[in-house]
Amino acid sequence: MAACSGEGAGGGGDTGGNQPGDLTIGVSMPTQTSERWIADGNAVKEKLQAKGYKVDLQYAGDDIPTQSQQVDQMITQGADVLIIAAIDGTALSSQLQAAADAKIPVIAYDRLIRDSPNVNFYVSFDNYKVGVAQANALLVGLGLQNKDGSKGTATGPFNIELFAGSLDDNNAHFFFSGAMDTLKPFIDAGTLKVKSGQTKIEQIAILRWQQETAQKRMEDLLTSSYNDGSKVDGVLSPYDGISRGIITALQNAGYGSGAKKLPVVTGQDAEIASVKLINDGVQSSTIFKDTRLLAEQAVIAGEAFLEDKEPQANDTKTYNNGVKVVPSFLLPVQTVYKDDIKPILVDSGYWTAEEVAAGQAKS
Ligand code: BGC
Repeated sequence: MAACSGEGAGGGGDTGGNQPGDLTIGVSMPTQTSERWIADGNAVKEKLQAKGYKVDLQYAGDDIPTQSQQVDQMITQGADVLIIAAIDGTALSSQLQAAADAKIPVIAYDRLIRDSPNVNFYVSFDNYKVGVAQANALLVGLGLQNKDGSKGTATGPFNIELFAGSLDDNNAHFFFSGAMDTLKPFIDAGTLKVKSGQTKIEQIAILRWQQETAQKRMEDLLTSSYNDGSKVDGVLSPYDGISRGIITALQNAGYGSGAKKLPVVTGQDAEIASVKLINDGVQSSTIFKDTRLLAEQAVIAGEAFLEDKEPQANDTKTYNNGVKVVPSFLLPVQTVYKDDIKPILVDSGYWTAEEVAAGQAKS
């Protein structure tokens, strides 16, 4: 059977009888400033190409109009499936309507696309559990809890500060609620004190997850709440880039030298610069999300759509995007402390020992 509408390779969605080489998958990624998205983009591309598909991979430089335009273009060029990690989860409704009109299935990649009925599937990690894991890592770092979840020997009270991700990213809310549900009993008991008093997500969010913005907020917190000789003992950070901004602010204020110990700082993504900091005892932990596995799930879902099947979900309850519950495939996450770098990150081939030592990815 020959192809359908004639515009572009597969002509949008209706792929019956086409060979992989006739089909194009549009992959829209948010930014190249964070390694994880580069790894995600490359992994999705390589896996699709290995199966013979054509891939149109675009990065949007964290700019919403650029991403809208790139997705528009993928649609007009006849993409057969779209895989999208949105910058702003609410900003792509008209693109998704155009995709639906052209019968192009849309897979939301890691970040849920909100306020649209035209999201066909969602592949991600268990984002609530990421937040729980971050909070637990903070408790472990402070000695309030052991790694197995049992009570630690420390008693506190400890001064902590909280950071959250970008409010327009659905994940930021899941990370925050997982973390706060875990920390709240300690805050209520007075064991953890958020000295700034800033505990609402709107007060602690960092637009676009930017390192510089996080550094500035930490500097402001140190000036406003810690100029009375008190010390920060722990910082809940949702992402390694934010963690590095926080650490820089703290180091500039004298933490990490002499008696002024750096606080326990959490993270996410196992970015190589942060893995080195963990190895060096500067950052306390990160949450590892294996982007290779996520890419694989996106490819499995994409192929299912190309074969006119529904991809298999393992969660059909959690991710309501404001219009509908989007069937999802969620992957587990792992907490990485210093001792876990070798078994989890190096032995699995995610980073080499040389990259960890250098704090830089090789290629
Ligand atoms: C991802 C995180 C990432 C953050 C910043 C979130 O949507 O789930 O893994 O740290 O974006 O890029």
